[in-house]
Amino acid sequence: MKEIDGKTKVLGVIGNPIEHTLSPVIHNSLCRILGINAVYVPIHVENNIGSAVKGLCAAKVAGLNITVPYKQEVMENLVEIDPLAQRIGAVNTLVPHEGGYKGYNTDMPGLKRALESKGISLAGRKAIVIGAGGASRAVCIMLMDNGVDEIYLLNRSLDKAQAIAAEIPCVKALGLDEYDKIPFYNADEKNSRYIMFQCTSLGLKPGDKLAIEDDAFYRLADYGYDLIYNPANTPFINKLKSMNISCDNGLSMLLYQGLIAFEYWFDIKISQEVSQKVYDILRRKLYGDNIVLVGYMGSGKTSVGKELSEKYNMNFVDTDEYIVKTQAKSINKIFEESGEAGFRKIESDSIASLSGLCNTVISTGGGAVISSENREMLKKLGRVVYLKADTETIFNRVRHDDQRPLLKSESEEELKNRIENMLSVRRAYYETAAHKVVVTDNRAILDIVEEIAEELSE
Ligand code: ATR
Repeated sequence: MKEIDGKTKVLGVIGNPIEHTLSPVIHNSLCRILGINAVYVPIHVENNIGSAVKGLCAAKVAGLNITVPYKQEVMENLVEIDPLAQRIGAVNTLVPHEGGYKGYNTDMPGLKRALESKGISLAGRKAIVIGAGGASRAVCIMLMDNGVDEIYLLNRSLDKAQAIAAEIPCVKALGLDEYDKIPFYNADEKNSRYIMFQCTSLGLKPGDKLAIEDDAFYRLADYGYDLIYNPANTPFINKLKSMNISCDNGLSMLLYQGLIAFEYWFDIKISQEVSQKVYDILRRKLYGDNIVLVGYMGSGKTSVGKELSEKYNMNFVDTDEYIVKTQAKSINKIFEESGEAGFRKIESDSIASLSGLCNTVISTGGGAVISSENREMLKKLGRVVYLKADTETIFNRVRHDDQRPLLKSESEEELKNRIENMLSVRRAYYETAAHKVVVTDNRAILDIVEEIAEELSE
């Protein structure tokens, strides 16, 4: 967002309630990244959506989103409605048009783009949709429009699924206990051939269970999408992850419905790179940012990291432990077999594979910051904190440790010199890698944890 001035355009989202909306995060990030002079605000409309829309139009508000409970009602207050929004029966985006606003639905195009961004194409595919509310109906319309030729729609209340099937020819309605009627159920284990959509409200509340428990049902899917994005891991997402079936939650749909609305307002096309940036901002805002700890071995990354994660209810990943686990070899063994260069390659790949994490404390190996590529990846991963310790502190912490291949030494004297030499080379790397430097010499762990935690509120 540029500084607000006399030319700043106003955008907003209308709803009731509205205070928990994430849309301002999406749109104000876009304005900032793209250098557009506009601001996006929540607009709480308690009733009379008609006069609100009229007033906002008169005030030349340059674009609006509409959310619960007004997505249908607002349709009576528009000068034109896009045919897709008309068919879905809901409008979530208003674009200025002669004499008022034109209404669009960007939710389903948003879901489609979310799938495309994952390389999932729909034409000629078969789908399974769980749930038969308004969202499921819209998903079925989107699937049919994009060339899906068979949709199995399962719902607790069969009549609601049947009502959708009566309207959309490729939909077959089933009760929740009738999934064994889906072709290929329990056929070959590897014969998964459906895209699966979770469109019930199950998963929104803690303690919610799956609509269907049977693993053989989920084996029908080669990809699953849960429209819920909060919490991040619903029972559906957990089930698919546990079965190694690739899946995503509804956050990407939330992102792309916003991006498409923004494209209408400013008549632009948003690149995949910008989309990814906004997705990362959104993800961290909702699920929590990561803290990445860098520093020389013995600087306290593991003990401080564990304490920080426990105190702030975050996950904890140590990149060296992660490497040992994924390679099924000790660090010493990797050094023996592949040398330092081989280890550094595995380390870079491992850091790259952590890019989906959020709300996690990531403790890195002492040499991870040497490569500029790693430093860049770490900065993208979260707030990077350099735990700074002097030679003496490190020497005292590592002198009896024989698990660190780079510290094998003949004598204590030699070890100290070696630490000093390595530190003098690496200090600059740690400093350029970090958003914040925390000195750890002679300090209690909890004290250090508190200083790092300030980064979480940045
Ligand atoms: P939306 O408009 O967002 O799709 P909805 O119309 O309230 O929301 O639909 C909620 C969906 O979740 C429905 O498919 C509902 O099943 P019913 O049609 O049988 O009510 C489903 N759902 C909600 N709670 C459920 C539960 N405990 N078990 C199974 N399905 C459930």
